[in-house]
Amino acid sequence: MEINLQGKRTLVTGGNSGIGAAIANELAAAGAKVAINYVTNQAAAEQMVQQIRSSGGEALAVHADVASNYEVESMFNRLDREWNGIDILINNAGIDGVHANSWEISVKDWAKVININLIGNFYCARQALKRMVKQKSGVILATSSVHETIAWSGHSAYTSSKAALSMLTKTMAQEAAPYNVRVLALAPGAIKTSINQDVWANSAGLKDLLEKIPLKRIGEPEEVAKMAVVLVSDVASYITGRTIFVDGGMTDYPDFAHGG
Ligand code: BGC
Repeated sequence: MEINLQGKRTLVTGGNSGIGAAIANELAAAGAKVAINYVTNQAAAEQMVQQIRSSGGEALAVHADVASNYEVESMFNRLDREWNGIDILINNAGIDGVHANSWEISVKDWAKVININLIGNFYCARQALKRMVKQKSGVILATSSVHETIAWSGHSAYTSSKAALSMLTKTMAQEAAPYNVRVLALAPGAIKTSINQDVWANSAGLKDLLEKIPLKRIGEPEEVAKMAVVLVSDVASYITGRTIFVDGGMTDYPDFAHGG
């Protein structure tokens, strides 16, 4: 079975680092045209574009802060001009945010996470849906997290944003299904990127993390990216409104391997 995304017009938000970058590269390898959205580190986005182009692919770098509806609209307008629309949106941009208990975190820091992870996701999905519903085809894949179901002390904004993302995904999927548009989410567990480097780079943090993962290792960004490509391809043509977990079993309650 071969996955061919030849000619598909794709946009990856937060596509210049971590899981987003891995997905962008994997989409390009499957033949898709890839727009790499970034908000900081333009150089990383441009470098990815050059690399994709030098292996014969089509790519461009697009700046937009997903938390700004105005910037998101401009980004989609640019895609209209460059490629006459969009077929696949990877709604990936997100942050962990400041680590602090709910009664200690500032309202500003809390809201920042919601603005990027949830409202930003909505702004992008909305623009994509306007176009996909009209053309009666398209796929939106959100990057959720195991924390859409696992509570996580010190990260109440993050967990709330991801739980809400799951219901946003289900509802948009229901709305868009009659128009042949699929909306789904992918929930990574602990994947080796800079977002959690402070944990996996110190031995106590790593030991603690591995106890939470039945497969006893941290995931690689490519393991998430490959599944993302499957989910946006026709291989997954009958899947919509679901979150697919790619987490090494983290949501399988590893503590129940004994006792109970
Ligand atoms: C977070 C990571 C964390 C992982 C597992 C992800 O959603 O972004 O920082 O390591 O969940 O807890």
